[in-house]
Order: sequence, then structure tokens, then C-alpha cells
Amino acid sequence: MGAGVQAKSQVTTVRLVTEETLENLLTETRHFPPSAEFVAQANVGLELYDEAIADRLGFWDRQAGRLKWDKSWTEVLDWSDAPFAKWFVGGRLNVAVNCVDRHVDEGFGDQVAIYFEGEPGDTREITYAMLKDEVCRAANALAELGVGKGDRVAIYLPMIPEAVISMLACARLGAAHSVVFGGFSAEALRSRIEDAQAKVVITSDGGYRRGSATALKPAVDEAVSKSPCVERVLVVRRTGQEVAWTDRDLWWHEFVDTQSPDHTPEFFDSEQQLFILYTSGTTGQPKGIVHTSGGYLTQAAYTHDVVFDHKPGKDVYWCTADVGWVTGHSYIVYGPLANRATQVMYEGTPDTPHKGRWWEICEKYGVTILYTAPTAIRTFAKWGHEIPGQFDLSKIRLLGSVGEPINPAAWMWYRRVIGGDRCPIVDTWWQTETGAIMISPLPGATTCTPGSAMSALPGIVANIVDDNGNYVHETEGGYLVLSEPWPAMLRGIWGDEERFRETYWSQFPGKYFAGDGAKFDVNGAIWVLGRVDDVMNVSGHRISTAEVESALVSHDAVAEAAVVGATDETTGQAIVAFVILREHAEVSDDTVEDARKHVATEIGAIAKPKRILIVKELPKTRSGKIMRRLLRDVAENRSLGDVTTLADPAVMGLIQTGLASGATDED
Ligand code: WTA
Repeated sequence: MGAGVQAKSQVTTVRLVTEETLENLLTETRHFPPSAEFVAQANVGLELYDEAIADRLGFWDRQAGRLKWDKSWTEVLDWSDAPFAKWFVGGRLNVAVNCVDRHVDEGFGDQVAIYFEGEPGDTREITYAMLKDEVCRAANALAELGVGKGDRVAIYLPMIPEAVISMLACARLGAAHSVVFGGFSAEALRSRIEDAQAKVVITSDGGYRRGSATALKPAVDEAVSKSPCVERVLVVRRTGQEVAWTDRDLWWHEFVDTQSPDHTPEFFDSEQQLFILYTSGTTGQPKGIVHTSGGYLTQAAYTHDVVFDHKPGKDVYWCTADVGWVTGHSYIVYGPLANRATQVMYEGTPDTPHKGRWWEICEKYGVTILYTAPTAIRTFAKWGHEIPGQFDLSKIRLLGSVGEPINPAAWMWYRRVIGGDRCPIVDTWWQTETGAIMISPLPGATTCTPGSAMSALPGIVANIVDDNGNYVHETEGGYLVLSEPWPAMLRGIWGDEERFRETYWSQFPGKYFAGDGAKFDVNGAIWVLGRVDDVMNVSGHRISTAEVESALVSHDAVAEAAVVGATDETTGQAIVAFVILREHAEVSDDTVEDARKHVATEIGAIAKPKRILIVKELPKTRSGKIMRRLLRDVAENRSLGDVTTLADPAVMGLIQTGLASGATDED
């Protein structure tokens, strides 16, 4: 099958926010240039684009000079083994030294690195000097457990400083971390631990969420009992709740806190693996995205500087992501710390103990740069502008957005209510695979259009192509591709070279296929329209329809399942499942609730379907492929699209009548 044919069959499944976004794209005439004051103090201006166009590799060569290298590189990029890139070939560095020791050595040891705010209101102020001691202690502890260069360590922690410390300790030793979001289930954790063959797991007794202590260790106990590769489990005491204990377990406060705060770092090759981060693909099996050191850190630091206009020692930066996602990796840990940021880290939810918690934190620490997700912005907009209106947000000078397309209404609300109509907004497009921001305004140079991520950053080459890989004209839609390698690009999928080639490089030879649809507007600005594959985006989190389907059919009442992402006002998309029950199963609310819970057990609460609809048939093509497009029409209460390719066109009638009588709506 030719690349074009495959791409075409994928695009038939496109539906997402597309209709609304297309409407916005055609009618959006508002443009916001940066203010003269902002431009005057901005880190970079338009000239950066010219500089990168004139000599792209020379540009990246200079960007790598932001870091401290033990040994310089001999070649900027080696692309001879494409799609496996090597950046800054032969260079040697230590990522943790770059993020911590370097700043202490340069006399900034007393600068606060992290203002930690626990959900119950406890706080910690960690300076760079303190962070260095903590990272060294943790590195000594891990080394004592036998962790060294090339090993993997799984990290399953709440949003507490030990998460950052653990990641940096691994980096310091040349071991790769695999952070698993604390909301994932024991089963999801187990499959990630085993895939990466992690030998140590770092976790905590629990964390605080929504006003109470939520346990984490039981999930680790369950996962580890089935994973013989794990030798030791290091446990941070966060909540003080009861935990089960085995010989494999060690308390952080006993084992790490007693270590020496001195640790002599080794320097590693630029291509040393830094981390594996699992993300959903189009199959039921998550992909372990592999990132390495020199190129990744270069682009993370570069983008954090130019996109957020960050001023070390002056700004108070807050990225609200969880360290369990790539945004937390690149814009809580590596980019900001490489740039000597002072940042806020918050453990809990935005509405605990009240709906103004985030704005109270902004006021308390004088946050100047805020980076969050559209789903959060839409939630705050729903709660009303009066809530942020009670707090002093006048220090904020720049706002960022990531994770999904931001609709112009949310963009305008963010600008007006949070940014007081004075702050530039950077809508940043990127992926777990890209490692760092790729498409975004430069806040001191770009005139922004609400809803658009604008254009590729200096040094990055992004294009939009049609089914045949040809560049599309203005206002035509197509597939977003990256046409040139970039420093922070993934170096593969852990243990699956074929899947790496197939997923990203086979659609349009020589180009990276991002899986997103996109369009240029009349001014040449890029509008990212959403995924064109069977990956959903729920509150900015990627979840594959296949993963949820396979979780559903592993429930003993479910015979068949089809899952779609239906447009949702707050979360972008919501998971809607259509299931056929087994004959013995009872059609009842209890069965539905049980199946929802089962998905949470198999994957995690984030993957729990919002609605499960029991049906007798599923719409399939003659070749047996489920027609999700039609199910999306049902889930979104739209009139049905073309049903002529269905094996049995009457099925949709059956589904709709069935739903009218037996549908169960869930929270
Ligand atoms: C979507 C998150 C539109 C997109 C950093 C991408 C966006 C997927 C944007 C990656 C944006 C992310 N505008 N869509 N600014 N940012 N996306 O790997 O579909 O969790 O492919 O990385 O999120 O999600 P991931």
C-alpha cells in the first residue's frame, strides 16, 4: 500500500474540534502584536528567524553553546543513519551538572530553584545549593543500589520535589528514568516497568489530592510483585499513611537523607539516553519514546528562553503540568533548570481548598510567567472571572498554552482575565516525540492570532502536506510534518525500531509525520486541527481508542467495544464507548459502572469513559473495520454522515433506536 493511500484512509477518521476550528480559522480577524514595552525588553526578535534560515546547523551549533560541555562535539548533526539522528556528535556533558551544579559554581547557590506548595498548604523553598545537595544524595543512594550508566529507573511520584530530584539523580548517573504519571493504574505501571526492565522504582506512600491523602504505594506493590526485574523500591514519606512493607523497600528519609551531599559527576556522550516516556499510539500498546542528552537539553533550554522570554533570577515561572507528562520533563525539569529559573511547583488540584487556589499561588509567589493547558483555562472560564479577579495577578507578564488546540474564546478569556490584556500568549505546539516546543510565537516578535500556534520556531522546519506528500497551498488542509531533523527529536521507540520507522517515517518518506492535521490561514499562520489518527486528546492527555477498547473487552461482561473521542466543551474530547455485552451479562447501570471502573483499573482514571452506551451492533465496513466516524456522529448528537459503505446500513438505525430506549448517561 502506498503512503498516500494509507494517509487517505486515516483522514476519513478525522473529526475532532475540526468543524469549530475551521469556522474560527476562516473568520478570525483579531491580531495582537506585542506591546512596545515587551518588545523593548524581549530576549529575542525577528532577526532570529533570519539567523536560523541563513545557516540552520550553524544556528543549532551556537544554541548548544548555552550548555556546559566537558568535551566539545566534532559534528553538529549526523543524519547518515536516518531516521536515527545523532546531534553534537562526540560531545560530552552531564545533564544534572548543567541543571544544578553549574549555577551553584557560578555563584547562584542562594537563588531559589523551587517554591514548593503542597496541597494542604505546607511549603518548601529549595535553593540551587540545596537542590545540588539533594540530587547528589539521591545519586549516591541510587549508585549504592547498583544503578549506573545505561540502567532504567521507574519513577511513580506525586508532584513533590523528590520527583525532580530523582530525575536529576538518574541523569547525573547516566541512567534513564521512566516517569509514570501517578494517575496510572498498577497494571499500566507494571507494563511500563517491564517494557523498560527498570531495576529500581521510586515512589511515595501517597500524595495529596482533592483534600485527602491518596495512596500510591499499593499500586507499586502490585506492579512490582509481577515484575522480577525490580530489585529495590525507594519510598518517599509524603502523607504518613500506612503502607505495606517488604525487604525490597527502603525509606527515602532513611536511605537517601543519610548519604553524602558530595558526588563527583561523570560526563556522558551527547547521545546517552536521558529518559524513556511512554505515550499512547494507535495500538493498545503504549510506545516508550526515547530521548537522549545533548540535543534534548539544548532545545529544551533554547525554547524555554526564547518562547517564555525567561530572565534568570528575575522571573517567577510556573508550569502547571505534572512531571509525569513530557511538558513536566521539558518545562518543569530540564529547560527551566538549565536556564536557572525560579519556579513554583504545586502538588494538588486547582479547586482545593477553593477555586481560587492557582491565583492565590500566583499572587503569593509573584508569578510572572504562567504555562498551562486549554482545558484548565476553559474550566476557569466556566467558574467565572470573579474568582481570579479577587487576586493580584499584575506581576504576570507572559502566558503559555500547550496540549491541545486552544479555541479563540478560551484564548481571549486567558488574555483578558488572567493577562489583564497586556501579556503576550504563546500557544506552543509540540509532542512527547518532539521533546521540546516546535511551533509557537516568539512573544517579542510575533503578532498573534487567537487559536493559532503561528509558525515554526527558528531552527525548526514544519510543513503541511497533502495525501501525496505535496506541500499544500494557503487555506488548504493537510498533514503536519517536520521536514528536517531537530536536536530534541526522539531517538526511537524503546525496543521497537520497526514501529518507530513505520509510525513516523513511512507516510511521507524523509519527513516526520506528526499525526496531526493542520492548515495555513490567509496570513500563513499554522492552525493545528487535532489528531488525524485514532488517538484521543482528553484534557490534553493522549489516550488511544485501541487501549480503551482492549481494556473494555477484558471485562467479562463485554463482548465487543468501539471507542471514540467526542467533542467536549471543557476537556476538548471526552471518551465515549459503544459496547456489545456478552449474552450472560445483564443490561444495567451496574454493568456499565463496573465496566467504567474496570478501565480505570486497567489504565487509570484518566481513561475512564465518560459515557458507555450499550448497543446490539456496531457499524462496520464490509471488511470489518469499525466506522468510528458514524459513532462520533451519534456521540455528538449529529445527524449521520454517509452510511453507504456499511456492511449493513440498517445497523445505525438499530443503534439509535436502542440508545433512545436503553442509553445510560454518566457524570
Ligand atoms: C496536541 C504534549 C494544538 C497535538 C506537549 C499533539 C496541540 C499532541 C498543541 C501531543 C497545541 C499539543 N495546539 N494541538 N498547542 N500542543 N497538541 O505528546 O495533537 O502529550 O500531537 O505532548 O497534543 O501530545 P503530547
